[in-house]
Amino acid sequence: MNYTDERMIEWLSVTRREFHMHPELSHEERETSERIKGILRSLDVEVHDLQGLTGVVGLIRGKGRGETIALRADIDALPIQELNEVVYKSQSDGVMHACGHDVHTTIMLGVAKYLQESGTSGKLKGNIKLLFQPAEEKGTGAREMIARGVLENPKVHKVFACHVSPDLPVGTVGVNRTQSHASADWFTLCIKGKGAHGARPSEGIDPIVAGAYFITAVQSIISRNIPPTETAVITVGRFAAGSAPNVIPEKARLEGTIRAFRGDIRNQVIDRLREIINGIEGSFGVSCSFDFHEGMPACINDERVSSFLYDIAAYVLGSEKVSYIPPVTGSEDFALFAIERPSAIIRLGCGNIEKGLDHPLHSPYFDVDEEVLSIGVRVFVEAIRRALT
Ligand code: NI
Repeated sequence: MNYTDERMIEWLSVTRREFHMHPELSHEERETSERIKGILRSLDVEVHDLQGLTGVVGLIRGKGRGETIALRADIDALPIQELNEVVYKSQSDGVMHACGHDVHTTIMLGVAKYLQESGTSGKLKGNIKLLFQPAEEKGTGAREMIARGVLENPKVHKVFACHVSPDLPVGTVGVNRTQSHASADWFTLCIKGKGAHGARPSEGIDPIVAGAYFITAVQSIISRNIPPTETAVITVGRFAAGSAPNVIPEKARLEGTIRAFRGDIRNQVIDRLREIINGIEGSFGVSCSFDFHEGMPACINDERVSSFLYDIAAYVLGSEKVSYIPPVTGSEDFALFAIERPSAIIRLGCGNIEKGLDHPLHSPYFDVDEEVLSIGVRVFVEAIRRALT
């Protein structure tokens, strides 16, 4: 058994397409979990349920004593209608693996297959825990898995993960030395004014004008309050108010998201939002309620783990194929594993412009060059081998 083996490459493609054709939304990954369990059992891997949660844990016990390395793969899909015309097109209306989680799942199953069938796992000092995580897209799966004790019994020492990246050509790997993703929080601002006739605004208090000032004012948080060497994002993505052109409504509702790379910057943004809201109340005579929903912390790789995976990828693919890359302002609930244990998530290039495979993640046209499957397997098998022998 070899990873460049035709049979292995074929198995990876067939397995990935099976997941791709049957995508399931966050917390609904029942068939997906069953399929994963079936494969793990066929490979003689110990299977553990997650007590009422979709998702699966596989455990490969090495012969000797040593660390336990966890490999995490997210398994959920998105509410997107696939527009690719391929034989393995999603068979679930309005649901699609548009973020490559079918690929992550297949890669980690491929690692298990290789380790078991090549006899490598029998020689390892330590254990491998395969964390097939539900509901990454909702940002809740990692927290729920950790709450169910997946990092204990046996105690996990490090967690490795990957995410496909269509921005990087297939065959290349991008590594974030420390910061990989931003934090993501949400807020809702309800502004209460006083309804009136649109022709007689002086008789009311216009919440739309107050909301418009709020949106304008928050732009200065990034430009005037955050140090110029740091960054953050504030986006108001929803502004709902009013019912007719000649009516001043009673209320307006604004919803937005905040992204930041550092905790202190995140807190500074939130403090300034509250101050601006207080100012809006004073200036316009409206009353505001601000509902802040804490989302995901920033995802920070452990530098020792990220440089370890960097070296492994360079060894497997050649040093010219691996590079350190800047973080992104998206979020990733792998952040929670990275808070609990030294961890790193790396990016596997899956793009191929010549084949038209360069659509972004979450696009209805997203697809990968399947060469990424065996590359992912090679990198993580080598990482396990190096970490546990
Ligand atoms: Ni994703």
